[in-house]
Amino acid sequence: MEPVIELNNVWKIYKTGSIETPALRGVNLVVGRGDFISIMGPSGSGKSTLLNIIGLLDKPTRGEVRLAGRDISKLSGREMAYYRNYYLGFVFQRFNLVGRLTVRENIELPLIARGVPRSERLRMVVKALSMAGGDESWLEKKPTQLSGGQQQRVAIARAIVGNPLILLADEPTGNLDRASAKVVMETFQALNSRGLTIVLVTHDPEVANCSERIYVIRDGTIIESREPVKSRCITKTVGG
Ligand SMILES: Nc1ncnc2c1ncn2[C@@H]1O[C@H](COP(=O)(O)OP(=O)(O)OP(=O)(O)O)[C@@H](O)[C@H]1O
Ligand SMILES: [Mg+2]
Repeated sequence: MEPVIELNNVWKIYKTGSIETPALRGVNLVVGRGDFISIMGPSGSGKSTLLNIIGLLDKPTRGEVRLAGRDISKLSGREMAYYRNYYLGFVFQRFNLVGRLTVRENIELPLIARGVPRSERLRMVVKALSMAGGDESWLEKKPTQLSGGQQQRVAIARAIVGNPLILLADEPTGNLDRASAKVVMETFQALNSRGLTIVLVTHDPEVANCSERIYVIRDGTIIESREPVKSRCITKTVGG
């Protein structure tokens, strides 16, 4: 399988004044095109740090990170922005939608950054929202007029509207009830079956079990790689 993400001996040391916090200590990870992996581990173990480094939101202190074969430490600022926009989609625990914009405007944001014309944008927004399990009637609403589960579907639509290579999700079900979490994981599985590579951070075993491989991180090191128990994926365990 062609690797789309490769981490070789990645370290991240945060420096706050004279205090150094090693958040990642020599992480090695290979994610192939079309893989769906989840990362589990206790609070403070380095999960978000790892995801932010893969997502070009943060830089490693040392070690090599390759995305789609390119060493990202060698990218210029402009190329980094290009990679973030064209290669990566992000979903967060707190949705991170822009409150003053409508649902349509939120989902359009990555397309505006690319200069996609208005007529084409609307078509892409409608398609992405539908793939994310959302409804066209939400388009002109503000995010606060929707439930948490609905807002997360909008955030997923925004993450996939530009057809990224990789979807990165940090606790996407952390603020949701079980029924909404189930919808999110059904969407992720459907997107993955269409070829999207997914890296998911979660505390929830029933969410991790929906992926194809589970990595466990502790104190900044991956200590275990295991198969999920598919019968204990939330899409199977929650009714409705
Ligand atoms: N910007 C920062 N400056 C200093 N230390 C940081 C920073 N971000 C994270 N850390 C520290 O790095 C370590 C890993 O943090 P990280 O956010 O990656 O953990 P996490 O596994 O995502 O935890 P959680 O499950 O609570 O979200 C922690 O000790 C944290 O305090
Ligand atoms: Mg975190």
